[in-house]
Amino acid sequence: MHRFPENFTWGVACAAYQCEGAWNEDGKGPNIWDEYCHDPDLHAVKNGDSGDIACDSYHRYPEDIALMKAHHVQAYRFSISWARILPEGTGRVNPKGLEYYDRVVDMLLENGIEPMITLYHWDLPSALQKRGGFLNPEIEGWFENYASIIAEHFRGRVKRYMTINEPQCITGLGYGAGTHAPGLRLGEEDLARIYHHICLCHSAAQRAIHRLAGPDVQVGIVPCGALCYPEKDTPENREAAYRATFEMHEHDWLFRFNIVLDSLILRRYEATAPAAVKRFAATIPQSEWDRMEAPDFIGINVYRGSMVDAEGKPVKYPQGGPLTACKWQITPEVMHYGPLNLYRRYGLPMIISENGLSCNDRVYLDGQVHDADRIDFLHRYLLCLSEAISEGAPVQGYLQWSFLDNFEWASGYDERFGLIYVDYATLRRIPKDSVRWYAEVIRTKGDCL
Ligand code: NOJ
Repeated sequence: MHRFPENFTWGVACAAYQCEGAWNEDGKGPNIWDEYCHDPDLHAVKNGDSGDIACDSYHRYPEDIALMKAHHVQAYRFSISWARILPEGTGRVNPKGLEYYDRVVDMLLENGIEPMITLYHWDLPSALQKRGGFLNPEIEGWFENYASIIAEHFRGRVKRYMTINEPQCITGLGYGAGTHAPGLRLGEEDLARIYHHICLCHSAAQRAIHRLAGPDVQVGIVPCGALCYPEKDTPENREAAYRATFEMHEHDWLFRFNIVLDSLILRRYEATAPAAVKRFAATIPQSEWDRMEAPDFIGINVYRGSMVDAEGKPVKYPQGGPLTACKWQITPEVMHYGPLNLYRRYGLPMIISENGLSCNDRVYLDGQVHDADRIDFLHRYLLCLSEAISEGAPVQGYLQWSFLDNFEWASGYDERFGLIYVDYATLRRIPKDSVRWYAEVIRTKGDCL
């Protein structure tokens, strides 16, 4: 009996701003992360880091793809930089931007690696932010136009798209807390409006992709948020974890999966939604609810979850319990119960679109990077994922975050999430122990776990 389905996809993931660099080359327009990092008054990013050079994948993608191939990677989820394609966000197309992604997609295909495109991973063209960004209802049309250009251009070459990565971070961190670009601090009703616009963007893009690239092309969205898992594996505790996952509270409604997925799939808001969301919801015309499109699959980024008791109340993490380098709790059980609970509520197939951790990786005296912490973490999470699958969660693939160490947003380069170490002074890539381990996982289709 195999742990994972025969046609399961094993891959890796990254995003344009985090690895490409070449921030002002070949006609690319500025985006909100360029501005956020470059603003001398903001001190927004640790050490004054930016994605100006990052891993320089814009120039070094042949080496990166060769490393993927050498380690049996079957799929690469990467994002397209909107401002490379449309420097002003709308209007004029920059052919050099499309040519870059042509080279990447074609080289992946030549090497038997499936290109999975994320349309939006947080790098809005600055020209659109000047017009209000996601607060402006025109974003629906801007995004549809951009998605249409990509869908038409890559027709026949790309079979799976993800429209928008982590709307919860775009809204909660970028427009709410101001700790991500564009660095705003808006009120709750505006944040609810932004969520709604993001859902309309997803829906318009999904229709465009199906129309222009074909109805068989699969389109997903990648929300994130708190996933709860039970303290004990009893039916009552499982039920409590399910309820707790989808309950909203005044203090955390921004970071729930269902703030996005209920709108798209159930076309309503959760009964426990806070007053600000309900006030805003009352203003949504029926025609906008009618435009919502349930995705073909849900991408889930799984890092950490919350343990709850039989009443659904949070259970304190054990004192001195294991933490990653950026002090995130290590909770593999979330990979077991999270997909099951999402499936129970929404009934859609899923892809684990990200899973990984930051470690204190360094080059040892022998010139190698020995990241036993990463191997142990991924091993535990994958075993839990196999439990979810054996209990009926239709998970189609697993994408490790991330292939290379890269720019970790407000934490700059301090956090290393990669299977491949990047020496930022020379941009040399050094495969870590974990990439060899993951290659064996892929080669044996997970049977070696
Ligand atoms: C989720 C985000 O999509 C990605 O950009 C980020 O680097 C990882 N989490 C790790 O924090």
